[in-house]
Amino acid sequence: MKSPRSPKTVAALALIVAVAVAVAAWLVVAGRDQQASPVTDSPARVSPVTGADASNPELVAWGSDVYSRHCASCHGANLQGEPNWTVRRVDGTLPAPPHDVSGHTWHHSDAQLFEMTKWGTAAVVGGGYPTNMPGFADKLDDDEIWAVLAFIKSWWPEDVQAVQARRSG
Ligand code: HEC
Repeated sequence: MKSPRSPKTVAALALIVAVAVAVAAWLVVAGRDQQASPVTDSPARVSPVTGADASNPELVAWGSDVYSRHCASCHGANLQGEPNWTVRRVDGTLPAPPHDVSGHTWHHSDAQLFEMTKWGTAAVVGGGYPTNMPGFADKLDDDEIWAVLAFIKSWWPEDVQAVQARRSG
């Protein structure tokens, strides 16, 4: 004669079923989550662009993408610049300075920053100035330059942004 299942066995079976159901539900939810996040998430271009407006989150997001592709290799992923950036090398060039508030990017007006990014510091300073800061006129259009500058400015504390804004007139 079959022995009736003990209450312990029934409880153990119920637990196994409950765990299996929970795992299955989790897999379905996790799968849905994966589908929801897009594979490519390049931020959209913003139009129209009226300048380096750091208070515009879409422009800043776009500029962040431009920055990581074109600037981070020299100026650092966290805008920290290269080590010893104030010390000129023997060839006369300077390492890439930080763009965060520890550098002097914020000492310049928007127009000056735009010129330096578009044409490079050699073209702006003149006189055969030795530098490793290239111009991006052939890589970035004007809106992309404003976007990357908006992103850089968004790193500065509000009081520094206000000082720099007065310089930009
Ligand atoms: C190949 C390395 C390199 C890349 C890439 C690069 N920079 Fe520079 N950048 C430099 C160096 C080096 C300097 C210092 C210039 C000098 O010689 O005075 C500089 C200086 C600057 C300055 C002047 C900062 C100041 O305080 O005077 C700005 C603005 C600037 N870069 C913006 C950018 C932006 C925006 C990008 C990306 C679109 C970028 N740079 C990409 C190397 C680079």
